[in-house]
Amino acid sequence: QQEGIRLTLLEINKKAARYYFALLKSPRGKVGYDYLTGRGLTDETILHFGLGFAGQGGGELYQYLKKEGYSDQILKETGLFKMDERGVYDKFWNRVMFPIMDVNNRVIGFGGRVMGDAKPKYLNSPETKIFDKSRNLFGLNYAKRGKRNNMILCEGYMDVIALHQAGFTNAVASLGTAFTEQQANLIRRYTDEVLLTYDSDGAGVKAAMRAIPMLRRAGITGKVIHMEPYKDPDEFIKNLGADEFEKRIEEAQNSFFFEIEVTKRNYSMSDPDQKTKFIHEIARKLLVFEDKIQRNNYLEAVAARYNIKTEDLQQLVVRYGNQMP
Ligand code: UTP
Ligand code: MN
Ligand code: MN
Ligand code: MN
Ligand code: MN
Repeated sequence: QQEGIRLTLLEINKKAARYYFALLKSPRGKVGYDYLTGRGLTDETILHFGLGFAGQGGGELYQYLKKEGYSDQILKETGLFKMDERGVYDKFWNRVMFPIMDVNNRVIGFGGRVMGDAKPKYLNSPETKIFDKSRNLFGLNYAKRGKRNNMILCEGYMDVIALHQAGFTNAVASLGTAFTEQQANLIRRYTDEVLLTYDSDGAGVKAAMRAIPMLRRAGITGKVIHMEPYKDPDEFIKNLGADEFEKRIEEAQNSFFFEIEVTKRNYSMSDPDQKTKFIHEIARKLLVFEDKIQRNNYLEAVAARYNIKTEDLQQLVVRYGNQMP
């Protein structure tokens, strides 16, 4: 019975995605189509990702699906509608639509973007019986077939789409929510190296600092791709193109060094007390490496980089190691 409900929800989502896609290609969807092509997307890309347009409001999707014979009860479970005493309304309207697919290419939810600066910029499907944000990655259905031996992890829908269009078909996004342990484990099924390209703003750096230890715990080597002076991969590619992005991949930074560099921003190196605290923090961080050789390699590299005597740092690490529970 539960399985039957799930199958019906998938069927409805597929119909909704087709509805949005058809609308995008119709005269009424021209604003959405112009928006997407204005952002550089080709017809082929729009088709590949099944992008669409949600109409001008009211309940047009609802009415369409009612005609297809679905009950209010099941339609409520799709998360695509707002239902109250006054009536039923489509949750998404006047937005360009991004179907979210699972690894088996089944539409499990949607993201919808306003075409201007209104808030919220993106609306997403709520959690449903078939949609658990924390266990899926946007683009993974295509990225898992990629020939590269790593994956690019970015923030947004448009980042993934721009990257795939530019030939980086190994890009996935964490659906705007914070990266989760389950997503790390999901990636680990396909690769053991992740190139992080979160936005270069404060929120992106913070999110990267959270994601790196999670990747590490899942057994994934993380590297950080820097997008400066641009904000995200979509903007970067639009301005500098795929070849320059490829160079940034080659220059990707070891994620431990990235963590240390970000940590260093909290300390003023010209102040001996602050520098001391910074070095103590490095010592504690080195304990994440359980492999002795790996820890030692990092220890030597960090000591050289920040002009610390290797033996001194070594002693500190041992001291903090002994304090571990
Ligand atoms: P960003 O704010 O970085 O947007 O959010 P973006 O992806 O660069 O969007 P564009 O380029 O302006 O179109 C990153 C991701 O966070 C989620 C979305 O998945 C978005 O792609 N997000 C963002 C939301 O879910 N809701 C929001 O209101 C904003
Ligand atoms: Mn962002
Ligand atoms: Mn950076
Ligand atoms: Mn962004
Ligand atoms: Mn963007």
